[in-house]
Amino acid sequence: MFELSSTQKELQASAREFAKKEIAPRAAEIDRSEQYPWENVELLTKQGFMGMTVPEEYGGPGMSYLDVVLVIEEIAKACGVSARIVVEANMGAVGAVMKFGSDKQKKIAADHVLSGDKPAICITEPTAGSAATEMTTRADRKGDRYIINGTKHWITGGGVSKFHLIFARVFEHDEPQGIAGFIALRGAKGLIIGKREPAMGLRGIPETQLILEDLEVPQEMVLIPPEGLRHGFAGLMNAYNGQRVGAGTVALGIAVGAYELALEYSQQREQFGRPICEFQGLQWMLVDMHTQLEAARLLLQKAASGGAQGGDYGHGFPDMLEAAQAKIFAAETAIKVTNDALQIFGSAGYSRNLPLERMLRDARMFTIGGGTTQILRTVVASALLDRKLPQTRDGHFKLSQKEKK
Ligand code: FAD
Ligand code: COA
Repeated sequence: MFELSSTQKELQASAREFAKKEIAPRAAEIDRSEQYPWENVELLTKQGFMGMTVPEEYGGPGMSYLDVVLVIEEIAKACGVSARIVVEANMGAVGAVMKFGSDKQKKIAADHVLSGDKPAICITEPTAGSAATEMTTRADRKGDRYIINGTKHWITGGGVSKFHLIFARVFEHDEPQGIAGFIALRGAKGLIIGKREPAMGLRGIPETQLILEDLEVPQEMVLIPPEGLRHGFAGLMNAYNGQRVGAGTVALGIAVGAYELALEYSQQREQFGRPICEFQGLQWMLVDMHTQLEAARLLLQKAASGGAQGGDYGHGFPDMLEAAQAKIFAAETAIKVTNDALQIFGSAGYSRNLPLERMLRDARMFTIGGGTTQILRTVVASALLDRKLPQTRDGHFKLSQKEKK
């Protein structure tokens, strides 16, 4: 079992202090204005929270996933949007590139995140959400280049991210070969930012469509895990397990923030001539909130620090089963806890003058984005039962079956 080292405890304490002083004061305005928090990004960069996982040889500090989740939780207590930026600057796309990429790809990714870019990971399509392997974005090989066409949507950071990792199905001579990642930078011809989604919460990060129209990507910017193109999707999803743990930790942090406010308020607000914390009905709510948060943190930190392939960053990603279980529990807990925290505030919690309603809206997303809790349950079931659980009626998907031959 993992244990936090004294350095990790210091990191946690400094992130807590930083979040309270620098990040919390802007959270309400970020939600209201729906503007990307460039000032916070600058502060996060200066603080060394962007690119924490980049290995030393590429200019980063080479910190572990566990280090990152300690920071994410503290930032998320203050501002969910800023915490999501920290997730994407350390996990997801950058994790995949640092594990499977060429020297050149790693340098590009490292330079971007260390200078404050939040990469975009582009998987989901209008007709391929949970069924991500049914993606129709295609990359046609033409000599040493690929020509990409298709439409992605709900791309976090569309229009603000520079570094994009785009998942597409590779075709050679019109035959499907498997799914690969393609690195492209904002501004590339054929990489078009589409309309923004009017999202319920986490409003400071744009969620947009991404339209790919004859986007040309050279061979050297293609990311294919060592298993090869036909099985590469599994490797890319393995990298994505890190992002699931990061996202779960944002949910946890938001909920811890809401719980701490409710705990304090319950000791100040009086009704019937006594603080409302003296009513057992509320005490039991606080106990359940705290217990569930503790359990969520343990699952997330266990997933972040373990990993079937041997633990810390650069050597392995969080295990598929552990990451899915942790995200399911943290995401569902976050919704319940933020909702209960708001309840403890009564009408004050329902007012936009306090952050509870924002926290509830922000927490709501984590049972959807990054794999829904239903899909993650199928992932867990598949691991527990040690069998493939195809979700299509016939148990197959035409293209991917063809690719596997
Ligand atoms: P669907 O797949 O259409 O699902 C609809 C419902 O059916 C859900 O309840 C789902 O759980 C259920 N369902 C589907 N299949 C099954 C099944 N087999 N068994 C049981 N239930 C099932 N994508 C990216 O690529 N990059 C991003 O940066 C990104 N950011 C996002 C940010 C936000 C705020 C949100 C909301 C989404 C983001 N996404 C992103 C997309 C996200 O990954 C998808 O929304 C998610 O995978 C679900 O796909 P869907 O929305 O199409 O839902
Ligand atoms: N970690 C490691 N490997 C994974 C994985 C994960 N989280 N999810 C899937 N894989 C592997 C499978 O083991 C399988 O490997 P194999 O071909 O060597 O057997 C391969 O990837 C394909 O997975 P499978 O479950 O057979 O594919 P499917 O066509 O039924 O698709 C998924 C299901 C993977 C798309 C679905 O489970 C899923 O995760 N959907 C949500 C997508 C998502 O998170 N989007 C977020 C965008 S930001």
